Amino acid sequence: MNHSKKTKSKKIYIITFIICLVMATILFFTYTKLSNKEQNNDVSQNISPSSNTTLNEQPKDNIDINDPASQFIIVNKNRPILLSYVPSDLVSPNVTLNNQKSNSENSIRNIVAPNLESLFVDAKKNNLDLMLASGYRSAELQGFYYNNLVQSLGQAEADTVSAKPGTSEHQTGLALDIASTNRECYLEACFADTKDGIWLKDNAYKYGFILRYPLYKDKITGYQYEPWHFRYVGKDLAQKIYSQNTTLEEFFNL
Ligand code: DAL
Ligand code: ZN
Repeated sequence: MNHSKKTKSKKIYIITFIICLVMATILFFTYTKLSNKEQNNDVSQNISPSSNTTLNEQPKDNIDINDPASQFIIVNKNRPILLSYVPSDLVSPNVTLNNQKSNSENSIRNIVAPNLESLFVDAKKNNLDLMLASGYRSAELQGFYYNNLVQSLGQAEADTVSAKPGTSEHQTGLALDIASTNRECYLEACFADTKDGIWLKDNAYKYGFILRYPLYKDKITGYQYEPWHFRYVGKDLAQKIYSQNTTLEEFFNL
């Protein structure tokens, strides 16, 4: 090989080396960007207890507690939703339904259904016989229940057990009441001491549900203990709320 040929191949090596280096750099940055994006999409990485972070620091695209269609919506006496809101994906879950309720009240949101079905399947394996007692409730139906209770209990007492229309999370299609098919302690505090109530309290979080109105949290939630009322929030948040023995209001520092 003469001198000019040697110089030429040296140049080719250097140019090839530089091209490879540039391509490797581009690949490295693309990969880093993608993997950051993936981490941000993982809800479990982004839900932090209120003691460590404020709501304003929550990534809004994942944890939206204001949109009634968000699985994280927080509805309470101070956080009403529009009376006209109706979830767009209500379905009848494949579980034992309440034969005394309408198809509408026996429905829940599509994202909740498979989780509720898994919970019912596992409950059955534990020899429990559960039924969905009440799922989605329109603002109108909620008003009917609420007014009946005001008539029978008086407004002050009714307000501790029933939500005014527009303030019930049943209207989101994400909350539901569970009862025993034999109706023992049906929607009563003593349900907590039945084998069904005990199993639900200890296991519902595994399927993404929280006990929304726990014992001794009435000052925070605004409602008496409801061992039958469960709210779907997804498995990550349900696990955190269960293990911290807390409520949505406390977790999000409301
Ligand atoms: N019983 C609950 C608070 C409701 O009426 O939504
Ligand atoms: Zn309820």
